[in-house]
Amino acid sequence: MEDLVKLAGLIEGKGPMVVLSGAGMSTESNLPDFRSREGLWARFDPMRLATLSALENRPEEFYAFYRMRLEALRGAFPNSGHRTLAKWEKKGLLAAIVTQNVDGLHQQSGSRRVVELHGTLLTARCKRCGAGFSGFVLLERILCERCGGPLRPDVVLFGENLPAGALEEAEQLASNAGLFVVLGSSLTVSPANSLPGIARACGAKVVIVNRDPTPFDGRADLVVRGEIGSALSAVDRLFESGAGGSEGPR
Ligand code: APR
Repeated sequence: MEDLVKLAGLIEGKGPMVVLSGAGMSTESNLPDFRSREGLWARFDPMRLATLSALENRPEEFYAFYRMRLEALRGAFPNSGHRTLAKWEKKGLLAAIVTQNVDGLHQQSGSRRVVELHGTLLTARCKRCGAGFSGFVLLERILCERCGGPLRPDVVLFGENLPAGALEEAEQLASNAGLFVVLGSSLTVSPANSLPGIARACGAKVVIVNRDPTPFDGRADLVVRGEIGSALSAVDRLFESGAGGSEGPR
């Protein structure tokens, strides 16, 4: 609990707060992460599936993988962690979220300032003519109804560039943050995993909330080992009870 009181104090005393979220943000919405024991990469080979060459050379496997993820997304809803972040944005405690997630759950919970570093599953486009569609169209067809070209989800595949401007905006947010909070990321994928270091180099306090250790733990000002949803709800209760804040419990 002491860690959460410290986190509450940092949030109230060291703004502006910027969050970097990873797949661990959405496991409490029943979406698997990637590198936990039961994560997607424990069952599938990312280099065989989440690449442009997979789309070109193994389309049946590629589309089956993304259809599976779209089906899972149909039954997924924001969890208490998403809702708490949206509440803190409305209260002026949280400036922005940089997310590696492609599930759209931050926006669905009401967060407005969200930078999607790795694109989104919610939309898809034709590789040939560029026409845009709902991502869920992939559950019905894989060819463009306009030109017959192959459709693909608007997620960043391994080896592809990030969406134009997203990384620059994320680096700007990290550079100007007073508090940089990582929620549910193994911090193993570049360039997202460079953001905590940028924030720290520019004077921000860095907090990591994660079930498992990350390579940045040793350089963080605070590491909360636990579940995101319950941790954020506990901090929010401290704010509501007036027991948070940079002075600590009053
Ligand atoms: N609360 C706290 N931590 C959690 C929770 C939870 N409820 N659920 C999972 N975690 C932690 C796990 O311990 C793990 O360290 O979240 C982390 C998720 O790490 P990854 O699965 O590696 O996900 P992420 O860091 O977002 O991956 C980055 O890799 O494959 C690519 O494009 C994909 O965006 C993804 C990127």
